[in-house]
Amino acid sequence: MRSRWRWGIGIAVVILTIIQLIRPARNNPPVIAGETIHARLPVDPAMNATLHRSCNDCHSNLTVWPWYTNVAPASWLIISDVRRGRAELNFSEWGTYPLKKQQELLKETCAEVSERKMPVAAYTLLHPSAKFTDADIAAVCAWTRSIAQSRIQAPTGE
Ligand code: HEC
Repeated sequence: MRSRWRWGIGIAVVILTIIQLIRPARNNPPVIAGETIHARLPVDPAMNATLHRSCNDCHSNLTVWPWYTNVAPASWLIISDVRRGRAELNFSEWGTYPLKKQQELLKETCAEVSERKMPVAAYTLLHPSAKFTDADIAAVCAWTRSIAQSRIQAPTGE
């Protein structure tokens, strides 16, 4: 029995060691000053702090990569979340989105946080301070609505 345990642990260690060789890239593409959401839309310091605290790691090019993002298999899951998160919504590349997409993303942002789908639950386990309160949800939705309104009013000149 004991030697079976030893075999089991030995094999697990070997597998964990080998999978460390599979290292998907952890990259932070350059941030172009004129294309960030801050350059394009009014983001007050409080909202900036909220987005920074709870969203930027997966939705910007300013991702902070802690040590465990280097250790497989956790690294695979995290890198995939960042890649998929940036593909859906990247605050650093906001200026590259057509106006219609910007409006949809603002609506989605309020919807996702209201449904408590964002920030991702697994992320808030590791980053408790990123958890969203009711006040955070209200603030984000007030912000996205205020922008949507100013955008709709602009073309009519009212
Ligand atoms: C741990 C990474 C992570 C964090 C943190 C995170 N997201 Fe996401 N987000 C994702 C991923 C992955 C997707 C795409 C897949 C999905 O919808 O689950 C996504 C999708 C989205 C979408 C697009 C949904 C759609 O269907 O169009 C919005 C909007 C969004 N997130 C907003 C936010 C906001 C706002 C925050 C902060 C309050 C946040 N996310 C925090 C990973 C993250």
